Amino acid sequence: MHPNFEGKIDPRTREAKLLASIDLKRLPRHIAVIMDGNGRWAKMRGRPRIFGHRAGAESVRSILDTCTRLEIEAVTLYAFSTENWKRPRSEVSGLMSMLKKYIRSELREVKAHNIRFQAIGNISGLAADVQKEIQWATEQTAGNSGTVLSVALNYGGRLELVEAAKNAAAQLVASGRGLDQLSEEDIERNLYTKGLPDVDLLIRTSGEMRISNFLLWQIAYSEIYVTPTLFPDFRRSEIFEAIIDFQKRDRRYGGLKEAANK
Ligand code: IPE
Ligand code: IPE
Ligand code: MG
Repeated sequence: MHPNFEGKIDPRTREAKLLASIDLKRLPRHIAVIMDGNGRWAKMRGRPRIFGHRAGAESVRSILDTCTRLEIEAVTLYAFSTENWKRPRSEVSGLMSMLKKYIRSELREVKAHNIRFQAIGNISGLAADVQKEIQWATEQTAGNSGTVLSVALNYGGRLELVEAAKNAAAQLVASGRGLDQLSEEDIERNLYTKGLPDVDLLIRTSGEMRISNFLLWQIAYSEIYVTPTLFPDFRRSEIFEAIIDFQKRDRRYGGLKEAANK
């Protein structure tokens, strides 16, 4: 049994077998999750959509606990997109107050797991009380050296790229270089995710085969795992399954299979 899961997982279970089949030397460095299907989960139970969002909070706990025990470098969670404002006002305000309370209530756990928290997206477009909570959690965990948790809030991949391009162009002009000098590195260093490795494994729950404006740049060579499981049902054993699936992939990056290179 992996020492970090000792006492957490019963060694006789299927979950323990899944864990044992993970190659710990080839873990993804960065896992991103499109947390989808909360509304459908609630609807199936005849409950309001916010009930599904609340249930999803337990899945977030499970993801963080599992990924920190596996010592994954970075975890990025899509919580609210720039397009999600189109939803009914009651759902948006319910989600925002839930997010605010959640960041506060989980701070102790996040600190105990040595997680460094940050929010990515157009944070200044969020309500002042939500921003305050984000700022507090960011400051409180700034010195932590474990998993970097990025929560995408009011996040849009296109918006991120437009902002990065603007900043990169301004820096270029300021440093006296011409526009033809603009490089991938110039864009990369202006992304919200600067300093993090590219996403290795992108997970989307609830079976939808789309990206929905998430991390467009960072997923250029990600392996994608789509599961029909609705987010509130997505827990530890399925994280293990996603990693096992990831480890079966042949990542070629446009080249040839490793064996074919020889
Ligand atoms: C994902 O669940 C959470 C957010 C987008 C905030 P949804 O609310 O999109 O749930 P479905 O897709 O309608 O089931
Ligand atoms: C993507 O889910 C956004 C988040 C998970 C926060 P959506 O439910 O908003 O995406 P679409 O509408 O199905 O593309
Ligand atoms: Mg959805």
